[in-house]
Amino acid sequence: VFANVARAPEDPILGVTVAYNKDPSPVKLNLGVGAYRTEEGKPLVLNVVRKAEQLLVNDRSRVKEYLPIVGVADFNKLSANLILGADSPAIQGNLVTTVQCLSGTGSLRVGAEFLARHYYERTIYIPNPTWGNHTKVFTLAGLTVKTYRYYDPVTRGLNIQGLLEDLGSAPTGAIVLLHACAHNPTGVDPTLQQWEQIRQMIRSKSLLPFFDSAYQGFASGSLDGDAQSVRMFVGDGSECFIAQSYAKNMGLYGERVGALSIVCRTADVASRVESQLKLVIRPMYSNPPIHGASIVATILKDRNLYHEWTLELKAMADRIITMRKHLFDALCARGTPGDWSHIIKQIGMFTFTGLNRKQVTFMTKEYHIYMTSDGRISMAGLSSRTVPHLADAIHAAITT
Ligand code: LMR
Repeated sequence: VFANVARAPEDPILGVTVAYNKDPSPVKLNLGVGAYRTEEGKPLVLNVVRKAEQLLVNDRSRVKEYLPIVGVADFNKLSANLILGADSPAIQGNLVTTVQCLSGTGSLRVGAEFLARHYYERTIYIPNPTWGNHTKVFTLAGLTVKTYRYYDPVTRGLNIQGLLEDLGSAPTGAIVLLHACAHNPTGVDPTLQQWEQIRQMIRSKSLLPFFDSAYQGFASGSLDGDAQSVRMFVGDGSECFIAQSYAKNMGLYGERVGALSIVCRTADVASRVESQLKLVIRPMYSNPPIHGASIVATILKDRNLYHEWTLELKAMADRIITMRKHLFDALCARGTPGDWSHIIKQIGMFTFTGLNRKQVTFMTKEYHIYMTSDGRISMAGLSSRTVPHLADAIHAAITT
């Protein structure tokens, strides 16, 4: 009965890893998925995560019962504090409802399902370009996806004019997806002044901001610094959605830990919204898993562990920045034609190289370097040892 099922293509990001795994070359390099690697090219489990896990294992009072539909209560509270700041008036006034979800994607999906059921405007504007999964998440939840201009390939910077024009002509109430920091894939973020312009446009048109915060701590190395855009919006007292992921900043990729926070106008609305979120979650996956959220809660509520986490996070962010510099220097040393300064200007895990699909295919075929076809490379996957190989490949792709 399934004889006519067509083979689906691999995922544009996760499929890169599938192709990489099949390649027997000893020099192969996976710069596709945004996953942090050490200088030795190995995945990293943070020390502070190991410590938290040990504490959890030693606690014999812990059981494996079902969690409530909304997840670990401490985790939810601490996650809202982390992104909004513990002293946020929205938190003090109980205006925020937070539910534990399956990392960033799950948080976006639960938020989108809620909006499709309870919000009057079904159109969501996402930046062009954006993380490849956004379109699918929102479309499958029943929203209509449109794009707003974001990246200018000529300046390799933000097209603030185009962005404001597009949001200005969006229908009243439309949802707007914003990357809280470290925009994926471009690495181009608005300045604080530009964020303020965006906020004013969004509020004046009664648009609904939906933040995707997948890199808090990775852009500037500072957890508070990377939350400024979100706090600016929440500070004005209007509604806001925030999807948080702990995949990158705690290295908890496979644990699937995230949170959806919805900031409402009154505490009563927030609690009614939460009651409806439970109806969204229960038939999807019933309730979330315990382990990852318990690790996060253990770290966030212990002053020493929290401090240790900030140091490890900063070390990851700094290593990525160093890789940017090394790659830039390596291309300059080779005299690779073009201006490569965007490599050091862009922010977060990725460099949007400007390489086209043909050049990417060339680099994969000739140099066994794996990356997404839009020319995005994960700087977190590079090391001092592999920079020369990448620089050789880019040089050859540009000059061949
Ligand atoms: C990425 O963009 O590489 C990451 O966010 C991982 C993913 O799930 O796509």
